[in-house]
Amino acid sequence: MTVRADVDADVDAAAGPPSTPAASPAPRATIASLRTACLRKGIVDPRQFLASCRLVIVAGKGGVGKTTVTATIARAAVACGRSVLIAEVEGKSGLASMFGQPPFGYGEVTLFEQGGCPILARTITPDHALAEYLDDHGLRRISGRLIRSGALDVVATAAPGIDDILVLGKVKQLERLRATDVLLLDAPAAGHAITFLTAARGLLDAVRVGPINAQARDVIELLTDPARCQVVLVSLPEETPVNELVDTAYALEDKVGVALGPVVVNGVLPAVPGLDSAIAGAGTTGPAVEAAEFRRARLALQHEQIARLADALPLPQIHLPQLFTSAIGLAELELLADAFTTPVHT
Ligand SMILES: Nc1ncnc2c1ncn2[C@@H]1O[C@H](COP(=O)(O)OP(=O)(O)OP(=O)(O)O)[C@@H](O)[C@H]1O
Ligand SMILES: [Mg+2]
Repeated sequence: MTVRADVDADVDAAAGPPSTPAASPAPRATIASLRTACLRKGIVDPRQFLASCRLVIVAGKGGVGKTTVTATIARAAVACGRSVLIAEVEGKSGLASMFGQPPFGYGEVTLFEQGGCPILARTITPDHALAEYLDDHGLRRISGRLIRSGALDVVATAAPGIDDILVLGKVKQLERLRATDVLLLDAPAAGHAITFLTAARGLLDAVRVGPINAQARDVIELLTDPARCQVVLVSLPEETPVNELVDTAYALEDKVGVALGPVVVNGVLPAVPGLDSAIAGAGTTGPAVEAAEFRRARLALQHEQIARLADALPLPQIHLPQLFTSAIGLAELELLADAFTTPVHT
């Protein structure tokens, strides 16, 4: 069954006005239907998602708000009584400062707590993951020297994907430990997220036996189990991020076989009630009218892109508002978490 055949009727009903043909992604009539671990189109109940998710990988184009959405899901999850561990892979994400905490590293720190449910966070780097793996396998004496010598860089160049599998192997270990209810992974930007998540399959083909093969096998088992792992893709309501999200969604399903959760449209401008009549009534030109016209154009563009996304992907959407602030802090996260848990018709 194809995506189009499966969802055309209800998508078209929900999508609003048709999008500009030039902006639409290519038809995907031959691609297998997207598997979703949560509800298909209709009313999304994000609380149901929060109550059942285990490993959630947050991915999307650079700068669309992956880290903000990761923090938002964490904040919303603890408000629902679930403990959270956030793992970030790129460092310097700004996650700690959103919770008013100092930067963290490989060791676990507590960023926030509500009703006995903590939000813990840590970074996972290939170097540290390898050192820990060697330590766990009785090779403590060589692990430090190996890392300091830069041997991993040499191996990673010779066997692409090895550093990704080290990180994902650590994620798999954390998921199995189940020290918290939810494990959130703030993934690399979209292009890298695809290679990052396909690393295990590549290595499985390249390395037929031994610990790397076993690690890759376990990682694939985790990524392809919809009861344990879902990917939440993030976009802005703009043409390029929407195109990239659609491409990433299909690539992840085709190449990784991972289940996709709801998509998050971040930075949605709130509607301004009475904007049209205010513009009509103003009757003159001037900065206020120009500003109102600009806002109206932005809202129309946003509406078009959200509809196009709904048309291209049979996944429920969650909308997060654009906040007019210079930095996201605890108060803003609370607003975003409230928005996250508000059911949306898509
Ligand atoms: N809903 C929002 N309202 C206001 N500002 C936002 C919102 N979402 C994100 N931002 C701001 O946009 C910037 C980018 O967000 P963020 O760091 O979460 O993106 P990212 O996708 O993780 O970026 P990178 O690809 O660099 O990791 C940050 O300054 C963040 O504070
Ligand atoms: Mg980030």
